[in-house]
Amino acid sequence: MEEDFNVTAYKVEGNVDYTALEKRFGIMPITEDMQSRITRLAGESHYLIRRKIYFAQRELSWLLDQYEKGNKFYVYTGIAPSGRMTVAHLIPFIMAQWLQEKFNADVYIQIPDEEKFLTKNDPNLTIENINKLAHEDAMDIVALGFKPGKTKIYIDTENATQIYKHAVRVSKKITYSTIKDAFGFSNETNIGAIFYTSLQAVGTFIKSAEENRKIPCLVPLGVDQDVHFRVARDVVEKLGYYKPAIIHSRFLPGLKGDPKMSSSKPEDAIYLSDSPETVVKKVNKAITGQQSTAELQKKHGGNPEKCSVCQYYKFLFEPDDKKLDAIFKAERSGSILAGEHKADLSMKINKFLENHRKNREKIENKMEDFMLK
Ligand code: TRP
Repeated sequence: MEEDFNVTAYKVEGNVDYTALEKRFGIMPITEDMQSRITRLAGESHYLIRRKIYFAQRELSWLLDQYEKGNKFYVYTGIAPSGRMTVAHLIPFIMAQWLQEKFNADVYIQIPDEEKFLTKNDPNLTIENINKLAHEDAMDIVALGFKPGKTKIYIDTENATQIYKHAVRVSKKITYSTIKDAFGFSNETNIGAIFYTSLQAVGTFIKSAEENRKIPCLVPLGVDQDVHFRVARDVVEKLGYYKPAIIHSRFLPGLKGDPKMSSSKPEDAIYLSDSPETVVKKVNKAITGQQSTAELQKKHGGNPEKCSVCQYYKFLFEPDDKKLDAIFKAERSGSILAGEHKADLSMKINKFLENHRKNREKIENKMEDFMLK
């Protein structure tokens, strides 16, 4: 059967079949056994792993073997700004912060302020504007509870001195035809976009290069980012470092039912900067898995898998499994109606955002302690 969906680093379309995607990308599921190893080593489980929101991996068993032998890993992830961060963008950083806490891991975070400049045709996305957003993002990330001294954020145009020398080593080992195939680029693609993947690769060995020894690296990412590392993994090994281990997450759907929340569709996304009224307005317009009328819903019930409200609880706003179960059951049985459901989600999101803003205020003047020097 024709698989009518598409996942690349620069576009996600159609209904994503994650099992089919594993085959396409050559990635493997996170098994129950790997899950329990992580739980044992961390001392607790994480809902994003338990709920298989992180569903696939590369080299995870190897990474855990290394950890058990006393060879500790560091964590690397990133975000390319094109607007203020959405709640969907938080997923890799929530994971990274937890890994920092439970595995005492250093975390490197790349904010490539040139990526969207190079790959999007939006006149507002000037290098100056994106650089401002990069600093906003850095604060939103640190506000999640990252530790000073163990967290190193770098912004590409500002930290070029530390990263460019590594990127050129990567770029020399990747040919134009490899990039063209991997990213679906054409002869009209600008050469900055072609080079960019070598900058994204740097984080997988930056700590090893700084300390001049091989250090395992774990990259939590949205599965659309896998392609960068498919290209880079072999190269990184040729440069004398370990291939990175990766864990891949599913996409938080858009409020309007898009398979991936898009920061370029304001009505589909919740931004960290949204006011409480905006959140209520957006959530009220979200699609649910419910029947067309209250009568029918009470009679037949709805489908939580197709309900963006239920999915928001699952991905971010209800970490308690028992409570999540109750929400899903109520949706299925028809005992909760859309209005009530949405009012409750709006309240939870607003509570989260309010708390986030408070945390952010506390670190706004301390950002120097979190930037790569
Ligand atoms: N390319 C990513 C984006 O579009 C940003 C990014 C940079 C990243 N380095 C990363 C994502 C490492 C995951 C892991 O947002």
